Amino acid sequence: MVAEVRPCRESPSSRSERLTLTDDQIGEPMEDRPDFVPLSTWIERPVDEMRSRARAFYENMNRRRTVRDFLTRPVPRDVIEDCIRTAGTAPSGAHMQPWHFVVVTDPTVRRRIRLAAEAEEREFYSGRAPDEWLEALAHLGTDAEKPFLETASCLIVIFARRYGSGPKGERRKHYYVQESVGIATGMLIAALHEAGLATLTHTPSPMGFLSSVLDRPENERPFLILVAGYPAPGARVPDLNRLPLDGIATFIEDEPVED
Ligand SMILES: Cc1cc2nc3c(=O)[nH]c(=O)nc-3n(C[C@H](O)[C@H](O)[C@H](O)COP(=O)(O)O)c2cc1C
Repeated sequence: MVAEVRPCRESPSSRSERLTLTDDQIGEPMEDRPDFVPLSTWIERPVDEMRSRARAFYENMNRRRTVRDFLTRPVPRDVIEDCIRTAGTAPSGAHMQPWHFVVVTDPTVRRRIRLAAEAEEREFYSGRAPDEWLEALAHLGTDAEKPFLETASCLIVIFARRYGSGPKGERRKHYYVQESVGIATGMLIAALHEAGLATLTHTPSPMGFLSSVLDRPENERPFLILVAGYPAPGARVPDLNRLPLDGIATFIEDEPVED
C-alpha cells in the first residue's frame, strides 16, 4: 500500500504532484526520521522563468544529433568527469545506482575494442541481423566499419550492475537495472551535449567482449558505448524528423493550471 503526501514545498503549479510513502514509512512523520533531511536543493522559479528555461533546454537538446565522424582532438578529463557526475545524479530503482562508467582513451585498448566490435558487426551485417532490422537501419548509412572507436576523443563504456554487495559482502539485488541505467545514460548524453561535445550511442551486437577487454567483474553487463568528442569538419548526419508533441504525448487533463 502507498500513501500520498504533498511535496515538502508546494508551488501553485505543483499541486498535481504527489510523493509516495512505502508501508514501513507510513505513520512516521518525515521530520522524525533521522535518515531524512530537509529538501534544501529545490529552487522555486516564477512561471515565466520556468517557461523560458523549459523552452531553452528543449531548443538546445533539439540541436543534439548522433555524430559518426569525429576529430581526434582530446577532451579535457575534468569535463568528462563532470558529465559522469551528472549521470550519477540519475534516479535509480531503490537508489541502487546500478551503473559504472569506464572512460577509455588508451589507444591500445581502443584498438582491441574496435577490432572486437567490427568482428561482431561484420557478422551482424552479413547475416546475423534479420532483414527487417537491416532495412530499419538502411537510412542511417551505418555498416560494420567503426573507425570512431579509435578516432573520437574518448569512449565511455557504460556497464549495468545486475547486483551489488551489502556490508557483509552478501549479494544485494538491484531493481529496475535497465531502466535506471537508461535514465543515467540519457542524462550523460544531455550533459555531454550541454558541454559542447558530440556523442554517438553505439551498441555493437553482441557486446559481451567489452567485459573481458575492460576486465569488468561478473556482476556487470555492458550496456552501451557512448562515443564522445568533437565532430569532424564537414560531418554529415541523416536528415531525420522528430515526432511532434502530439505524436509522443497524450494529456488527460484536470482544469488548466493558472499562471
Ligand atoms: C539504444 C541505442 C542504440 C544505438 N545504437 C547505435 C549503433 O550501434 N550505431 C549507430 O551508428 N547509432 C546507434 N544509435 C543512434 C541512433 O541511430 C540515433 O539516435 C537515431 O538514428 C536518431 O538520430 P539522432 O540521435 O541524431 O536524433 C543508437 C541509439 C540508441 C538510443
